[in-house]
Amino acid sequence: MNLTQVFTLMLMILCTCLSVELQANAKTLIEFSKDSPYAITKNSKAYDFPACQIYCYGPLLHTVQMAKLFPDSKTFVDMKLKATPEKTMEEFEAFMASKNNTPSRDDILQFVQANFGEKGTELDVWTPDDWTERPDFIELIRDPDLKQWGIDLNNIWKELGRKMKEDVHKNPEYYSIIPVPNPVIVPGGRFIEFYYWDSYWIIRGLLYSEMLHTARGMIENFLSIVQRIGFIPNGGRVYYWGRSQPPLLTAMVKSYVDFTKDDLFAINALEVLEHEFEYFMNNHTVQAKGYNLAAYRDTSTGPRPESYSEDVETSKSFETDAAKEEHYSELKAAAESGMDFSSRWFISANGTNSGNLTNAKTRSIVPVELNAILYWNAKIIAEFHSKAGNIDKMTEYETKAKKIQEAIQAVLWNEDAGCWLDYDLINEKPRDYFVPTNLSPLWVKAYNIPDAERISKSVLNYIAKNKLDSFPGGVPNTLLQSGEQWDFPNVWAPMQYILVEGLDNLGTPEAKEMSKRWGHRWVKSNFEAYRETLSMFEKYDAEKFGGHGGGGEYGVQTGFGWSNGVIIEWLTKYGRQITLSNTDAAGENA
Ligand SMILES: *[C@@H]1O[C@H](CO)[C@@H](O)[C@H](O)[C@H]1NC(C)=O
Ligand SMILES: *[C@@H]1O[C@H](CO)[C@@H](O)[C@H](O)[C@H]1NC(C)=O
Ligand SMILES: *[C@@H]1O[C@H](CO)[C@@H](O)[C@H](O)[C@H]1NC(C)=O
Repeated sequence: MNLTQVFTLMLMILCTCLSVELQANAKTLIEFSKDSPYAITKNSKAYDFPACQIYCYGPLLHTVQMAKLFPDSKTFVDMKLKATPEKTMEEFEAFMASKNNTPSRDDILQFVQANFGEKGTELDVWTPDDWTERPDFIELIRDPDLKQWGIDLNNIWKELGRKMKEDVHKNPEYYSIIPVPNPVIVPGGRFIEFYYWDSYWIIRGLLYSEMLHTARGMIENFLSIVQRIGFIPNGGRVYYWGRSQPPLLTAMVKSYVDFTKDDLFAINALEVLEHEFEYFMNNHTVQAKGYNLAAYRDTSTGPRPESYSEDVETSKSFETDAAKEEHYSELKAAAESGMDFSSRWFISANGTNSGNLTNAKTRSIVPVELNAILYWNAKIIAEFHSKAGNIDKMTEYETKAKKIQEAIQAVLWNEDAGCWLDYDLINEKPRDYFVPTNLSPLWVKAYNIPDAERISKSVLNYIAKNKLDSFPGGVPNTLLQSGEQWDFPNVWAPMQYILVEGLDNLGTPEAKEMSKRWGHRWVKSNFEAYRETLSMFEKYDAEKFGGHGGGGEYGVQTGFGWSNGVIIEWLTKYGRQITLSNTDAAGENA
């Protein structure tokens, strides 16, 4: 027998054992769709938010946002209505008529003060009921300063907890917030509501902090949103209605089930998870080299409501309304990626990533991580079906996963670069620019596992070629300094996570060593920033050990949900190994 035959035989034996086990389980098959509290009802349909006429589009939004009343455009769309949306629109029409349709900035300010309340009043600060003073991960941390930091980070959950007021549930049309049943942990800073992909790292941090109930509540919120709206918007506001974010709900459920062994929760969630998966597969697909792959996009029209005047400003480079509308769509598609904004989404006339926001062509770029995450979703859904003893469905989702993996291999893997690369649909060529997401297939194992050795060599060469190990403050998001916040020199916790966990998963000694070095460095550099400022940041600075980031559309944000989540997970993972004494600035242990 040659090696392939041995493999095939082993696989056959494995499959036989697996299917025997599954048939045994089949006796206890759970009718998940009928009994699940999270079933998609026949009436589930695209949600019609009455508050959208105020907060999502239309003349009132345009008039107020173009008056630039507040330093941050997001302020206005987070303000509460004093009357129903219909009544407010009537007031607005009367107001405009009384000012001959040319109100001054002061007139508009008065109108807003008369008809809107403070922003953020729909949420109360909430202390999670399952918060404990000393979760077990603290005991795993050897260094006394890091141990105190772990205690501090655990305390911050209490500052980031928010619960919706009763009135939001009674009168949702008075608010831009999307009502959800359970309290949430928010990112912090200007982000006073839940965000979709942020919540993945927040939930993992909560699980390590033994706040299982809070974590589950947040996941149930997302499940309920898919039931009501059909997908999960970018964040918990109606004005995000046209776009989602990297779909990590299925991975959130898996994280919860891995911690709790609550298989029934996974099985009950299956119908919603399938629904969200199909939503992405049906509404985000593009064709590349004859394969179906997914890309980011948005279904609404007009500028982003929360950054309205900013988008109108960049659209001035375009002459026709149709061209402006295309531009808005590219910006909102970039927002769906979570990387708003970055040269990653620029395709200039000569096919490079040079230029500015007017060159955003997000919808024409096939992003590695979106496809890797969709592969992961299909794998997890298959796994949950096997828990339910549903072999047909398991096979169906394994097949879907395999098709996505084949497309990733055929279109996104790049032998010359030695890594996966985003694909440019306009110029029909790979985009050979570093982004951490280029390595995301390692994180979710969206590659042919027997190729791990070969991939490890390639990827480590890619890392060396791009000098990614040379930055004291972590691996930057790109190597181009454009002034956008998802570009050099900014470093983001979820991206460090994807890199470090990906290299760890790859499993070769060289990859694991790099993973550990980057993981230790990230913990130490975050701690240095914390020691100096007593703050956790939304983003950090690759060029400076302990540096924190800036640039982009808004000021420095602290809090900060996903940064805290990643550090808590890694204090658990590395807490026994890291000491702060005897380390150099690059974070190496001497
Ligand atoms: C998305 O796909 C679903 C099918 O999964 C379809 O019913 C729905 O109309 C699509 N939505 C949009 C906004 O295209
Ligand atoms: C592409 O065009 C930009 C200007 O838009 C220029 O700065 C850059 O050098 C060009 N790159 C190539 C490879 O031609
Ligand atoms: C962006 O690039 C376009 C096209 O090169 C140019 O006309 C515009 O002035 C630039 N905008 C900014 C803000 O630099």
